[in-house]
Amino acid sequence: MKVLIVGSGGREHAIAWSVAKSENVDKIYCAPGNAGIAEYAECVSIGAMEFDKLVAFAKEKEIDLTIIGMDDPLVGGVVDAFEKEGLRVFGPRKNAAVLEGSKAFSKDLMKKYHIPTAAYENFDNAEAALAYLETAKFPIVLKADGLALGKGVLICNTLEEAKEGVRSIMLDKQFGSAGNRMVIEEFMTGREVSVLSFVDGKTIKTMTSAQDHKRAMDGDRGLNTGGMGTFSPSPFYTEEVDAFCKKYIYQATVDAMRAEGREFHGIIFFGLMLTADGPKVLEYNARFGDPEAQVVLPRMKTDIIEVMEACIDGTLDEVNLEFEDNAAVCVVLASEGYPVKYEKGFPIDGLEEFKKHDGYYCFHAGTKFEGDTIVTNGGRVLGVTAKGKDLKEARANAYAATEWVSFANKYKRNDIGKAIDEA
Ligand code: AMP
Ligand code: GLY
Repeated sequence: MKVLIVGSGGREHAIAWSVAKSENVDKIYCAPGNAGIAEYAECVSIGAMEFDKLVAFAKEKEIDLTIIGMDDPLVGGVVDAFEKEGLRVFGPRKNAAVLEGSKAFSKDLMKKYHIPTAAYENFDNAEAALAYLETAKFPIVLKADGLALGKGVLICNTLEEAKEGVRSIMLDKQFGSAGNRMVIEEFMTGREVSVLSFVDGKTIKTMTSAQDHKRAMDGDRGLNTGGMGTFSPSPFYTEEVDAFCKKYIYQATVDAMRAEGREFHGIIFFGLMLTADGPKVLEYNARFGDPEAQVVLPRMKTDIIEVMEACIDGTLDEVNLEFEDNAAVCVVLASEGYPVKYEKGFPIDGLEEFKKHDGYYCFHAGTKFEGDTIVTNGGRVLGVTAKGKDLKEARANAYAATEWVSFANKYKRNDIGKAIDEA
């Protein structure tokens, strides 16, 4: 079969690698892709938001399955555009992708269906939000309602900071129209875990757990980024936590979406916080995490095409979803200055080393070809993943492999997976 993948980051590289392993697949295209994805897929220069062009391409090339990796096109209704033309596509429709696209929607859903999450209020004007803050407890969390590249969350320690935050979100529109509405919620403390799952409308099967490191600098300091590294599984995601989430969160979310007439087919990513009062939902995403996918997919034994088709057809209950009994760590190699200001266009050396070692992967996040040379083309450049028999071995392997590649202004965190030592 022929597969089209939509996206251009490390997540889509991991998806492409996984799809390429499937015996069912003869040809892969990726729109727009990157220099790493080009090893498995023919990259076509169509942007992820160019729905008409994507649909026309899928028809012309007789694509059997299109996989949407990114959030923006999902929230914008790309799945509906494909389905309208009778094309098979993996991902939630627009009315279900709202689970990620609107934080106010997801908070109201959790409240209505008693799914554990932080206490909150929604606001659609700044005056009401500012008035609410006068009697609030601090620290407090402000969230722009819509998509904001993972940056629309502000944790405020004082009333003044929070007022400033409300103004920047709702009045100055720091995150654009994402800030037309906002959520103000209780600050929670605890370990964070990412649990990704496949969903077919009614059945949910969770993947192995992972943990992201969102801050730019060691010790969780610095600005929030798209993610500087991940490890899987999380040692804090115990059987007890899993049992709790199965009982109160996972199926409850799928059932709630169905009851609302928003049947969800695709990936639900549960961002969880393990609080003293039990696990609570921090956020939902409607797609694979990036860089969670880079540690979860290399450990997946089941054919990704088989499970994605089951999600579309509503037959996920027949799929045996299996993961390897090992661990993986991904260290992101970024450009110095990310996420604020950084340079691009530097040649990358050493990529061929990964071909010589089993269990090591170099997923490209921001790269492109300049002639025959692969050069840096983004803030996050590469995701270096390695497997090991346990987390410690995987971490040592991943950090060793980060030394194989070099490019100007290479920057990484040195403490990805440090929490492993505390487990
Ligand atoms: P989100 O995009 O909603 O996952 O938020 C981004 C990050 O902000 C999360 O990964 C948490 O580290 C932090 N965060 C979000 N909501 C809360 C909360 N209610 N309490 C504490 N931290 C939070
Ligand atoms: N790594 C977090 C995300 O993909 O949203």
